[in-house]
Amino acid sequence: MKSTGGSSDAKRRAGEAAAEGVTDGMVVGLGTGSTAAHAIRALGAAVDDGLDIVGVPTSFASRELAIEQGIPLADLDEVDGLDIAIDGADQIVLESGNCIKGGGAAHAREKLVAAAAEEFHVVVDPTKVAEQLDHTVAVEVLPAARTGVEAAVEKLGGEPSLRRAANKDGPVVTDNGNLVVDADFGGVDDPAELAASLSAVPGVVEHGLFVSYASAVYVGSEDGVSETT
Ligand code: 5RP
Repeated sequence: MKSTGGSSDAKRRAGEAAAEGVTDGMVVGLGTGSTAAHAIRALGAAVDDGLDIVGVPTSFASRELAIEQGIPLADLDEVDGLDIAIDGADQIVLESGNCIKGGGAAHAREKLVAAAAEEFHVVVDPTKVAEQLDHTVAVEVLPAARTGVEAAVEKLGGEPSLRRAANKDGPVVTDNGNLVVDADFGGVDDPAELAASLSAVPGVVEHGLFVSYASAVYVGSEDGVSETT
């Protein structure tokens, strides 16, 4: 899985610490990204040792990794809710738990899974922690809605840019067959208001602002993990 800065030891510690909270019988949301991948690997090792769980992947990539790790899987529509979802973030404010996701363009399914989970545990390294959200907001859009959504983002005070595939001419296409517009709003003063405004734009499938979802945040570092609830 794609890695986005931050030390891999710090990410591993965060992912492993969150995985330790998973117990027998749980239905577990499996996030996307390099930090969530550490949690999936730790859960795979625990399943090898007898842990009895069902995982619900949030992307093609997390599904592939979970299969490789031998974790029994189900789709979101096959389970009656989730006990916990573990996922990474591109930026997070510890005080509120509000975060921005979508660096891996998986935020639509990630939000569905987080919303269905009783607890949403975010795993990050210290480079993701901020006083105020100011990371670009990933907005998944129906292909035909791209220009309309870009205009709406500008009206909301943001600067939109179509996400392009690394080393390729074409755009990034999500697991759902849509495009991603990255919207730069600078510092976000009111994440809830911006989240509602973006959700109201026709053609927006989902955006990466996760407001009031996180119930715990694990920040891994070179020498340990801190947990904020
Ligand atoms: C994918 C995400 C990821 O969780 C986010 O981009 C963080 O990734 P990483 O752990 O690799 O830094 O939201 O859509």
